[in-house]
Amino acid sequence: MYWAVIFSGVLLSNLILSPVLSQSTVASPEGFISISCGGLSGVDPITSLQWITDESHLQSFQSLSQEKVIITADVNYNESSPSLPNGEQLKTALVFLPIQMTRSKFCYNLPIAFNATEGSRNYLLRVMFPSQNLTVNGTALSGYATRFYLTVDSTYITTIELLPSMPQTIELVVSSMDNRFYVCLVPLEDKSSMPAISTLELRPFNPDSYGRTGQSKEKQQSSYLMLVDRLDFGGILDTESAPLRYPADPFDRIWLSPRIPEGAQFEAYNRTEDANLGYGGDSVYFPSAVMRSIWRGRNLSSTINFDVYVKRAKARRPLPTFWFQMLYSNVVSGAVNPHQSVRQIDGDLASVWSPFEVPITPGFVQIMSLDQVIGSDSLTITIEPNGTTEAPVLINAAEIHGEFAAVAVRTSKVDVDAVRKLYPNFASSSVDTAGDPCLPVPWGWLVCSIELPPTITQINLTGEGVAGVLPSVFGALSQLTILDLSENNFDGYFPDSLGGIRTLRELNLGHNKLHGELPLFSAKSLDNLVMLSLSSNMFRGTLDSLMEALDESIQNLDLSNNKFVGAVPWNIEVLENLETLDMSNNQLSSELAVNFSKLRNLKNLNLSLNNLNGTLPDSIWNSRNLQFVDLSNNKFVGPVPGNIELLENLENLDMSNNQLSSELEVNFSKLRNLKTLNLSLNKLKGTVPDSIWPDSIYNNRNLQFV
Ligand SMILES: *[C@@H]1O[C@H](CO)[C@@H](O)[C@H](O)[C@H]1NC(C)=O
Ligand SMILES: *[C@@H]1O[C@H](CO)[C@@H](O)[C@H](O)[C@H]1NC(C)=O
Ligand SMILES: *[C@@H]1O[C@H](CO)[C@@H](O)[C@H](O)[C@H]1NC(C)=O
Ligand SMILES: *[C@@H]1O[C@H](CO)[C@@H](O)[C@H](O)[C@H]1NC(C)=O
Ligand SMILES: *[C@@H]1O[C@H](CO)[C@@H](O)[C@H](O)[C@H]1NC(C)=O
Ligand SMILES: *[C@@H]1O[C@H](CO)[C@@H](O)[C@H](O)[C@H]1NC(C)=O
Ligand SMILES: *[C@@H]1O[C@H](CO)[C@@H](O)[C@H](O)[C@H]1NC(C)=O
Ligand SMILES: *[C@@H]1O[C@H](CO)[C@@H](O)[C@H](O)[C@H]1NC(C)=O
Ligand SMILES: *[C@@H]1O[C@H](CO)[C@@H](O)[C@H](O)[C@H]1NC(C)=O
Ligand SMILES: *[C@@H]1O[C@H](CO)[C@@H](O)[C@H](O)[C@H]1NC(C)=O
Ligand SMILES: *[C@@H]1O[C@H](CO)[C@@H](O)[C@H](O)[C@H]1NC(C)=O
Ligand SMILES: *[C@@H]1O[C@H](CO)[C@@H](O)[C@H](O)[C@H]1NC(C)=O
Repeated sequence: MYWAVIFSGVLLSNLILSPVLSQSTVASPEGFISISCGGLSGVDPITSLQWITDESHLQSFQSLSQEKVIITADVNYNESSPSLPNGEQLKTALVFLPIQMTRSKFCYNLPIAFNATEGSRNYLLRVMFPSQNLTVNGTALSGYATRFYLTVDSTYITTIELLPSMPQTIELVVSSMDNRFYVCLVPLEDKSSMPAISTLELRPFNPDSYGRTGQSKEKQQSSYLMLVDRLDFGGILDTESAPLRYPADPFDRIWLSPRIPEGAQFEAYNRTEDANLGYGGDSVYFPSAVMRSIWRGRNLSSTINFDVYVKRAKARRPLPTFWFQMLYSNVVSGAVNPHQSVRQIDGDLASVWSPFEVPITPGFVQIMSLDQVIGSDSLTITIEPNGTTEAPVLINAAEIHGEFAAVAVRTSKVDVDAVRKLYPNFASSSVDTAGDPCLPVPWGWLVCSIELPPTITQINLTGEGVAGVLPSVFGALSQLTILDLSENNFDGYFPDSLGGIRTLRELNLGHNKLHGELPLFSAKSLDNLVMLSLSSNMFRGTLDSLMEALDESIQNLDLSNNKFVGAVPWNIEVLENLETLDMSNNQLSSELAVNFSKLRNLKNLNLSLNNLNGTLPDSIWNSRNLQFVDLSNNKFVGPVPGNIELLENLENLDMSNNQLSSELEVNFSKLRNLKTLNLSLNKLKGTVPDSIWPDSIYNNRNLQFV
């Protein structure tokens, strides 16, 4: 599909930019961001734009520096091609060493002035990568893989592989989603690769720039363009000169002038006065320096051919379609411009366009071609004279982009805000917090849903050395199924809101410094919990409300090593799927009023190191799956019940340091799996015949018996 748009009478003089050539303290245009990655700040001698360092835009710059994850490297590359832009900045690179593998991505946060009323607009984003030949203080940085992903916001852009002797440039037209862009480098090879970057440039276009006529706004916002070629026909032919860019081009696009092929029947034509040149309209805004030069046929019947090489663009990502825009404007001086009519042919007669007339300066024709599929590695574009023409064919400028689908969403905002509340706690840790939490790759400590926009379904921060108070906004994570914050230094209370996450299946707050009483939970509010650990904190108070909140789904309940008081709630018996119950090392007291017969699945029971008293309920020994039973260090009285014999699976029984008394009337020989038995420090009486010991522990040194 193509569109021809004819403009005429637009005067460049209306649009002259204020000259900004002074070298002193010139501010870059609003919204321009130019980062010399690993380099120094300063004014660019060619563009007069201000380069800045990584510090203000690279997320977690401080901790990355402290951990020596980022270092500046010198870049050695073949400089014999003088037209490479950003030559000075390309001599250094910022390198991300794979020494801190917990990070899933490294992101630059580029703020933009987003106006929600206006909606998204397009930005030019140019990223340059160094050659593979990197040195630090003269020593080669070798031995690291140099393959990584480039992503922008939620979209995978391409895989970068640093090349032996050549820097690489990726230039995009990207649509804004909100008030920032995230440009991220994602290490590959199981996070052991070493991303490196030399420059990062962001330039806002005018509101309608790079709008694709014939394509819906939605499609445009959910796709991005990758530059293949930007051609200024007949422009700067001198190879020693720097390519045309800012300030000549207000958006700092970089224009190259293709060579005229040997023996071609066309030539460069150059108009020297600037006045009255078309510029392509506000949205296109091609510089006058581009518009004043053309390729032009030598005679009325000559044609112009040029090739667009798309091999590299296709290698970047499979199956792109291409979007062209071409400008035709007759800049030939003279009082009268002859009637000029041409037609364009793409490829091998694949698409013959209807003829169109090229208006006189300052008018121009803009031809746009959408959704072009290019089968081979190059596409030849031919411009032919229409039969009726009185002047030779010409072409003024062309831009060819690959067009790719973008993921135009971010992680659900509620979820992002909730996890962001944790950030202050990450100050002294190397926890992954760069870019969007879930897209395009989730932080190492998260699992996200696959639907779009994603929500956070699992958080695992175990052992990350995080300190601080648990934020109450956790409750907002409405799809959270696993929250593992164990083995950190969190302090403060158990946040009420945690009790409101109905989807939660595993909650592990173990081994922190949390304290205070548990909140008053609503009944069954934790009814999906399968695992709950509050172990090794300093929680106080009774467990009654917690038991009301839990439901049959719970299998693993670890409340050990706290300061819980009161009785073991009787209604624990309702939790009939419990496999592990650990309430050891608290200050629980009173008799055990639980009917353990109902806990048929219980395998591990640890109530040691409490002040439990009274006799052991017979029902414990009806829980036939028990393997590990630790009731030591309490104040239990009475006999060791005979029906222990029924616990065929019992491997470990510790009832030491209680006040158990009377004759031992258990034939342990029936417990074929018993490996450890400790009945020491009780008041048991009588002699014990050898025959009561199963073979498995006959010689077991762990056997203690008074
Ligand atoms: C790397 O750069 C150094 C210094 O310019 C050069 O001597 C060496 O040949 C280069 N190595 C490669 C592999 O390009
Ligand atoms: C550097 O580039 C020039 C011109 O492109 C080429 O002739 C030369 O072989 C290159 N040198 C290296 C070491 O790649
Ligand atoms: C946002 O855009 C609208 C429409 O163009 C404009 O009226 C409004 O002033 C803008 N707001 C800001 C904060 O720039
Ligand atoms: C490189 O040398 C400088 C100056 O001697 C030193 O400060 C810096 O730490 C060195 N960098 C590395 C990565 O060794
Ligand atoms: C066209 O004119 C400009 C400005 O005078 C000059 O820099 C450029 O080299 C000229 N191009 C050609 C092909 O003569
Ligand atoms: C005009 O151009 C055509 C095609 O490019 C060529 O074959 C022909 O020789 C040219 N004629 C003159 C007079 O230069
Ligand atoms: C192109 O040529 C055809 C006939 O050869 C003519 O009818 C048509 O008007 C021409 N188109 C233009 C835009 O001049
Ligand atoms: C959290 O991650 C650790 C390893 O980093 C793992 O051992 C643990 O099982 C994970 N927790 C959950 C609930 O998956
Ligand atoms: C029971 O808990 C105590 C204290 O937490 C611990 O020392 C002991 O090893 C546990 N017993 C078993 C069998 O795991
Ligand atoms: C058991 O402990 C509770 C609470 O400490 C106490 O009130 C009760 O008297 C104790 N019972 C026995 C038999 O010691
Ligand atoms: C304990 O539970 C079992 C199994 O549900 C039941 O048969 C028994 O009657 C209960 N015992 C008491 C004292 O309620
Ligand atoms: C204990 O049980 C074993 C196996 O059931 C049996 O052989 C042994 O005689 C019993 N010992 C006593 C003292 O009842």
